[in-house]
Amino acid sequence: MSSNPAKAVKNVVEAAAEKVADVLAPDVPGAPGSAPPTAAEPTTPHDPLPPKKEQGTPETRTPTGAKTGAPSTANGQQGAFLTTSQGARLRDTDHSLKAGPRGPVLLQDHHLREKITHFDHERIPERVVHARGAGAHGVFTAYGTAEQVTRAGFLKKGRETDVFVRFSTVLGSRGSADTVRDTRGFATKFYTDEGTFDLVANNIPVFFIQDAIKFPDVIHAGKPHPDREIPQAQSAHDTFWDFVSLHTEAQHHTMWNMSDRGIPRSYRMMEGFGVHSFRLVNGAGETALAKFHWKPKLGVHSLTWEEAQLLGGIDPDFHRRDLYDAIEAGAYPEWELGIQVFPDTPEETFAGIDLLDPTKIVPEELAPVQPIGKLTLNRTPTNFFAETEQVAFHVGHLPPGIDVTNDPLLQGRLFSYVDTQLTRLGGPNFSQIPINRPHAPVNDMLRDGFHQDAVHAGVAPYRPNSLDGGNPFPSGDAEHAFVDVPVTVAEAPKARANPASFDDHHSQVRLFWLSMSPVEKEHIIRAYTFELGKCYHQAIKERQLQSLANIDPVLCAQVAAGLGLPAPEPTVPLADVAPSPALSQVGRQWPTDGRTIGIVVGPDSDLDGVGQVRSEVLAAGMVPLLIAPHGGMVGDLHVQRTFATGRSVEFDALLLAAAPAPAPDALPARDAKAGAADSASVDPRVLLLVQECWRHAKAVGAWGDGVTVLDQAGVTGTPGVVTGDSGTEVLTTVGQLLAAHRVWERFPASAT
Ligand code: HEM
Repeated sequence: MSSNPAKAVKNVVEAAAEKVADVLAPDVPGAPGSAPPTAAEPTTPHDPLPPKKEQGTPETRTPTGAKTGAPSTANGQQGAFLTTSQGARLRDTDHSLKAGPRGPVLLQDHHLREKITHFDHERIPERVVHARGAGAHGVFTAYGTAEQVTRAGFLKKGRETDVFVRFSTVLGSRGSADTVRDTRGFATKFYTDEGTFDLVANNIPVFFIQDAIKFPDVIHAGKPHPDREIPQAQSAHDTFWDFVSLHTEAQHHTMWNMSDRGIPRSYRMMEGFGVHSFRLVNGAGETALAKFHWKPKLGVHSLTWEEAQLLGGIDPDFHRRDLYDAIEAGAYPEWELGIQVFPDTPEETFAGIDLLDPTKIVPEELAPVQPIGKLTLNRTPTNFFAETEQVAFHVGHLPPGIDVTNDPLLQGRLFSYVDTQLTRLGGPNFSQIPINRPHAPVNDMLRDGFHQDAVHAGVAPYRPNSLDGGNPFPSGDAEHAFVDVPVTVAEAPKARANPASFDDHHSQVRLFWLSMSPVEKEHIIRAYTFELGKCYHQAIKERQLQSLANIDPVLCAQVAAGLGLPAPEPTVPLADVAPSPALSQVGRQWPTDGRTIGIVVGPDSDLDGVGQVRSEVLAAGMVPLLIAPHGGMVGDLHVQRTFATGRSVEFDALLLAAAPAPAPDALPARDAKAGAADSASVDPRVLLLVQECWRHAKAVGAWGDGVTVLDQAGVTGTPGVVTGDSGTEVLTTVGQLLAAHRVWERFPASAT
C-alpha cells in the first residue's frame, strides 16, 4: 500500500472501472456511477469517486460571479469519511442513540434529528407549469452574423458562452411521462459576461393566448380537473377543450399541439421558438425587431401516437433518457440559433402580420431565419435537483443589445417568473444558487433575505452614497450598460382591450393546416378525433367543430365523422393564405446520430456478422442494442434487451440476424406479449417487434435466418423492409431509410 492509502484505493477503483466498464456495458450509455460496484461492500476509506466523464456541474463561482478556482467536484462532497453537516466525523449512522439497546431513543441524538429533519424538508414545490423537465450543460458559439443588429457581446464572432438548457412538458406534474401530447419548453440560460441571458422558449412558435392575464385561465383549463385530479399531463379532457373552443385565439397553438409537433421523438429533434418579437439594438443605437429560432441539426421528428402511448408506460423517462444517453455516447445534440429580423416601424407589423401578437408566425418564406450561432449540449448534470430543479429562468434576464417589446404576453411574463420563483425556491436569493450564478460581476445593492450566500461588505447599499466611496457606480455604453430602448409610447386612453389585428384567430391556423403533407394531416385529424372523443360533453365537441369548420371543411368533416356528429358550415369566410412548406416535417434527409438500432440475435446467429454490424452502428454514431432470448451473453456479445424486456418503441429501426424459436418464457401467462402472434417456429415476441416496427413505419432489415421472420410477420417486400446477403449491406440501406426518419410510404393518406 502506498503512503496515501485513500488515493491508492481510488486509483485502483478507477483503473478497475475503466477495464470493467468495457466488458460490462460496452458503449451502451446509462449505467449509474463512474465505477462498477464490487459484490462485497467496500470498506477501505477513499475520497468520493469522480462524476461520470460526461457529467458537468455549474462552475464554482462566488455568489457575485467571481471564479473561485475550486474544482467543481468540491460543490457537493469532500473527504473519505461520513460527517454531520457541520463536518464532525461519525462512527455510526445506522442506530439511534438509545438508553440501552431496547431504548427509549434519546432526544440528545443530534445526528438522528439532523438526518430526519433534513429528509423531511427534501422536497420543494414543483413548478406551477413545466414541472417535468430535463437539463444539460453546453456551449454556444456565435457566428458574428448578428453583430450588425445587436450590440450583445456574446453574439460577436467566435465568442463562446457557457449555457444550461432545460427542456420540459407544460401540463404534467414532476413525475409525469415524457411522451404525452403537449407543448415542450426549451429554456436556455446563456452565462454571458455582460449578464445572464435567458431565452425561455417553446417548441411551438405561437402561444395559446395573447395576453398574460389569461395565463392562469388556460393553465387551469389544461391541468387535471379539480374534483378528481384527472387526467394527468393530458389535454384530452373537457376543461381544456371548453377553454380553447371558447377562446378562438387558442386555435393556432392547439393545431400545433394536435400535429406531430405535440409528440416529439426526442428533445434533440425539436425546434425552439422565442415566440415574441424582441427589440434588438446595435452599437449605433439602431433598432430592429426579431424573433428567435432554434433549428436542430438532426431535423424535426416525432413519435407516432401509438409509440407515445406505449412509451408512457414502458419508458416514461424516454426523452430525458434519450438526452442523457446521447450526450454520454458522444452524440452531442446541436442546434443553430437563428433570427428573423424585421424593420422596427411604428406599426410593428411585417407583411401585414402584427409582430406583437404571440398567436402569429411570420412564415420563413417571407422572412428567412438567419443563423447567428451554434449550441452544443455536451455535459449532463451531476445532480438533478441542484441543477435542473433549481434553475430559474426569467424572460427579463437580458444582456445589453436585446430588449423587450410591448407584446402583452411578454409583458406579463416579465412579472410572473420571479414572482413564482420567490416561493418555489424559498426566498429572494435564488440567483445565488450555483446553477443560477451569473458569470459576470454582480454588485446589486440587494441585501439579506432567506438563504443569503453572499457576505456583503460595505455599509451603504444605496445610491448615491459617500460612505462606500460612491460604489457601486452607474455605467454607460463604454462599460456595456443595459439599454432600455427609448421607444415612444403613443398617447392613448387607458383600456382593457386588444388591437383590432389580434381578432384574426383562424387564418394562420388554416395556413398551418394547408402546409402539412397528407400524412401529417391524417395525424392531425386523428389527434383532434381522439382528444375530442375523450370529452364527455357534446356541446364542447360541437363548439370545437365550429372552429374547425372555420379553419378547413375537410378537417372538420373528418373529425366530425369520427365523433359521429354533423359537420357545421363555416361562419366566417375561409382565409385565402399561402402555405409555408417550411412548416412540414416530412420530405428531407437528416443525420442519424444517436439513433437506436435493435438487433435480434439467437443462439444460431452468425455472431461474427452481428459483431461486425454492431461495430458499424457504433461507427455511424448510433447505439446498437442486442435483443436475445435471455440476458447475459450470446457468444461473446453482451445482450442489452431480452424478448421479455424489449419493446419496439425503444428502437428507431430493427435488424433481424436470426429466426429464434420460441424461448422457454414465451408463455402468455408470464409475458402477455407472447400471446401476440401465432407461429410455431419463431418466438411470438419477435414477430410482435417486427409488426410494431412495421406499423410505426420504421425501417426493418434482415439477413440470414432473419429473412424468414419477415415472411412469418407478413411484411416481406413491403416498403422499408430490406434484406441482403450480409448485415453490412442491410445496415447501409436501413441507415438511408432512417435518414428520412420513417418509411412514410407505409402510411397511405386520404387527406390531401
Ligand atoms: C410565449 C409564451 C411562453 C413561453 C414560450 C413560456 C415558456 C416557459 C418555459 C420554457 C418554462 C420552463 C422554464 C424551466 O425549464 O424552468 C416556463 C415556466 C413558467 N412559465 Fe412560461 N411561457 C410562456 C408564457 C407564460 C406566461 C404568459 C406566464 C404567466 C403570465 C408564464 C409563467 C410561467 C411560470 C410561472 C413558469 C414556472 C417558472 C418557475 O417555476 O421557475 N409563462 N415557461
